[in-house]
Amino acid sequence: MAQAITDVREAQDILRDLFDRYGAGGSGRGRAVFFGGAGVSTASGIPDFRSVDGLYHQRFAYPPEVMLGHDFYMTHTPEFYEFYRAKMIAPDARPNRCHTKLAELEAAGKLEAVVTQNIDGLHQAAGSKCVYELHGSTHRNICQRCGAVYSAEWVLADGADDPRHVPVCEKCGGPVKPDVVLYGENLSQRTLEASVRAIAAADLLVIGGTSLVVYPAAGLTQYFRGSRLVIVNRDPTPQDAMADVLISCDIAQAFDF
Ligand SMILES: NC(=O)c1ccc[n+]([C@@H]2O[C@H](COP(=O)([O-])OP(=O)(O)OC[C@H]3O[C@@H](n4cnc5c(N)ncnc54)[C@H](O)[C@@H]3O)[C@@H](O)[C@H]2O)c1
Ligand SMILES: [Zn+2]
Repeated sequence: MAQAITDVREAQDILRDLFDRYGAGGSGRGRAVFFGGAGVSTASGIPDFRSVDGLYHQRFAYPPEVMLGHDFYMTHTPEFYEFYRAKMIAPDARPNRCHTKLAELEAAGKLEAVVTQNIDGLHQAAGSKCVYELHGSTHRNICQRCGAVYSAEWVLADGADDPRHVPVCEKCGGPVKPDVVLYGENLSQRTLEASVRAIAAADLLVIGGTSLVVYPAAGLTQYFRGSRLVIVNRDPTPQDAMADVLISCDIAQAFDF
């Protein structure tokens, strides 16, 4: 049976203690890895998908899972860009305490890597260096012809007059596509393998802010062989039974230690 925690102070104490004990710190005994999802960024004002106030509960012309599909991108490119600019790019979002604490833990030698399903770049904005972005990033938008890379701001500016405008490369006129893994597309093999290696080598795995239902990302937990598995999530997940410690509270508060 997992130890179940709902009290924020207790959660903070337990997390602090676990990173001290299992992080690669002074004694170098182990390694800690964080594996997160959209719930890590809700406190930064970016809605997740499956919470009650998540994107799946908002009304759009098409369901979000359709608009985030490869087929939709190919067949409804203007509508895709309208949604991408309005709902995926979050230019004003700033890292919250979970992001900054993870960056501090890494700098202190207590955290090996962050594996994230998020595409918002907030871990890097907080200062994390080793971040595996399983689903890519809105901060990279790539010309499909010549490989030129454009920022999220460039995509927004390009759509300032018409949010449905399909951006084309300034250098070669080729189509620019977000470096984001859409439904129906494969994850980067290199990123996936690096994430598997990090999780397989970890002694402490802290999973947070993810419903653990989106595969293949959710399957990464099967590679964990270490001592302690912790889940920090507001709602239950299908993998709660795997956890040694189950923390259900706001993750930005839990990491404010
Ligand atoms: N910020 C982003 O980049 C972003 C935002 C939305 C969706 N996505 C994408 O959508 C997919 C959705 O899968 P997912 O599992 O990451 O998200 P999800 O929406 O399926 O699940 C989010 C989970 O986080 C929990 N949660 C939300 N806010 C929390 C908080 N403050 N504290 C603790 N728990 C909290 C919820 O209970 C929920 O179980 C991902 O693949 C991701 O690429 C990314
Ligand atoms: Zn180009």
